[in-house]
Amino acid sequence: MKSHNAERMSDRLGGCEASALAASFGTPLLVIDEAVLRSRMGRFREAFVRGGWRASVTYAGKALLLAEIARIANDEGLAVDVCSLGELETAARGGVPADHCIVHGCYKTESELRAAVERRVRHVVVDHADELRALSSIATETRTVCDVLIRVNPSIAVTTHAAIHTSAPASKFGFPIGDGQAMAAVRAASTEAHLKFSGLHCHLGSQIDDISTYVRAAQTLAELARAAYAAGIECEVLDLGGGLAAGTPADKPSPAPEEWAGAIFASLEQCFDGSPMRRPHVYVEPGRALVADAGTTLYRVGVRKSLPDGTQALIVDGGMSDNPRPALYDARYHAYIADRPDAQADGAYAVFGRHCETDRLIADAPLPDPKPGDLLAVRSTGAYTYAMASNYNRFSRPAVVLARNGNARVIARREPLEHVVDLDVVSEHDA
Ligand code: LLP
Repeated sequence: MKSHNAERMSDRLGGCEASALAASFGTPLLVIDEAVLRSRMGRFREAFVRGGWRASVTYAGKALLLAEIARIANDEGLAVDVCSLGELETAARGGVPADHCIVHGCYKTESELRAAVERRVRHVVVDHADELRALSSIATETRTVCDVLIRVNPSIAVTTHAAIHTSAPASKFGFPIGDGQAMAAVRAASTEAHLKFSGLHCHLGSQIDDISTYVRAAQTLAELARAAYAAGIECEVLDLGGGLAAGTPADKPSPAPEEWAGAIFASLEQCFDGSPMRRPHVYVEPGRALVADAGTTLYRVGVRKSLPDGTQALIVDGGMSDNPRPALYDARYHAYIADRPDAQADGAYAVFGRHCETDRLIADAPLPDPKPGDLLAVRSTGAYTYAMASNYNRFSRPAVVLARNGNARVIARREPLEHVVDLDVVSEHDA
């Protein structure tokens, strides 16, 4: 049986021994390899450097936002996309200046809009007409000018899981284009005295591996920019969102950032060459593609058993509370036994979490005779795992460490049990 060990490009644990990490920090443990993270960020930034164009890469913080991760993104020259007060505050704690933050969200609360205006973030990406009005009145009241992008729904079909397709005609995000709502928003944003209209945004969805989808998105935004130009309004920014696939199984490699950038620029070149419009500042905002492969989750195998259908099952000391993605999106992961990464697999094992339901993390991991006590490493778990972690079954959220050159340091402490139970209020008297 073929093991996936041969496909391990590097150990991705920042030069640390998995057993030493587990001994020092416990399990489950999310290990972020700092060199991998920085090199992904740098590679995307470089891929979007193109003569004749201005372009910026924004890190979509929702994939994994901790103050230290925000600090690294900022250090690597990336802006940070935030979509809540919590994310804005986390970015601030990581030293990200507000004018390097782009604020997203399909329902931003009054306090989120107010914080965005008062802190003077780079852009607020406006999702709908009421939000535009609310933002304008907060900016007027605060006597500031808030810079906005208009999020549109380009209604482009994308091949991905339905739950992460955000540009379908039935998607809740952004202004529809076809019925004139998007153009009306552009006009409104450019006439409000306390708003500065900077351009257009769309985000197609996540785990997209068909680059041609971005070509259509670029064309759609360019067409709308042309219509705005005809109405005397210039789009300085075209933001194509994120969504580039990552962490996909090795038999289906993810598109390279250079390929992504090449397709986007080629499409925009066609749209803008010979046009009286000035070339826009091009933004992209990947999350997963930057952080997924930098992360490895270490679990302790606690149970091995044979199920009635013959499945060889392992149960590890985490599960859907630290990685809900297999349950939500049928996400697939690869794993290896960290103590003997090069041993030959003797069979395929189903890996389950220890929650009170069938939280299967991996259906068929080729592993070398795994036993209770073994350390299981699950690869490419940097994105949307810790970010989506919960206290289901009153588990504590795991610790996160950043590893580099054989050293590791905690960047998020393991959640103490007191935190898990702390919010409960128990009646002091019988009713
Ligand atoms: N920009 C916007 C406006 C977004 O909503 C997102 C993701 C991104 C950028 C970054 O997308 P990425 O490059 O990371 O694919 N929980 C799901 C993914 C939800 C994505 C939400 N928005 C998952 O675990 O697959």
